[in-house]
Amino acid sequence: MRFDVLTLFPEIFSGYMTQSLLKLAIDRSLVELNLHNIRDWSRDKHHSVDDRPFGGGPGMVISAEPTVEAVEAVQATDSEPGHLVMLTPQGRKLDQPLVEQLAQHKRLLLLCGRYEGFDQRVSDILKPDEVSIGDFVLNGGEVAAMTVIDAVIRLVPGVLGDEDSSRFDSFSHGDRLLEHAQYTRPREYRGLEVPEVLLSGDHQQIARWRQENSIQRTSQRRADLLPEKNKGKNDEPRNS
Ligand code: ADE
Repeated sequence: MRFDVLTLFPEIFSGYMTQSLLKLAIDRSLVELNLHNIRDWSRDKHHSVDDRPFGGGPGMVISAEPTVEAVEAVQATDSEPGHLVMLTPQGRKLDQPLVEQLAQHKRLLLLCGRYEGFDQRVSDILKPDEVSIGDFVLNGGEVAAMTVIDAVIRLVPGVLGDEDSSRFDSFSHGDRLLEHAQYTRPREYRGLEVPEVLLSGDHQQIARWRQENSIQRTSQRRADLLPEKNKGKNDEPRNS
């Protein structure tokens, strides 16, 4: 899977690229990540990429010309132009089904905005898939792009050591339940015991406990995710 990130701040990605699961995936050639600075396509002698908004108002708007030219040039570096995603709070909201959709593409171009966003003509010309990671405003699209990359690479075959571990994550099931509680050693900590059933070795009972725990958690924390059949089940309020 190939990612190309277009940003004014490529350095933001350096820690993430050299530390995480992403680094392992890159080292194993499962994922390729290329960073491009939109400023390199500025034709201005000061290398400026933004300007004041027409009509007045605060902040700066990223200009259409360097952005469109950057995207077109980066698209042309591969026979597969790729699926263009613009990270913006105005986009459709990212969730696991959208992550799964994005993971179908062999190549994703992630366009990160800053300031007051891009000149509208960037969207009019390039028609990107506009994606938001939630109803809040970040200082730029870079953290959102990392979020997309982080979620998508989990679905790239071979990236996770244990092939099962992404399938059993919250939201990966058809019924979108939250993940059940997990425990590791010690068996008792500050008076809190690991549920007996998890120590029993009875895989059927363990699977049943986990399913019930998932439904209970989902009903307490995110009842909006529950299929009708499970609504109202185990829904005592949470302590924390
Ligand atoms: N840029 C600024 N805020 C954002 C958000 N919530 N999602 C995606 N990109 C953004």
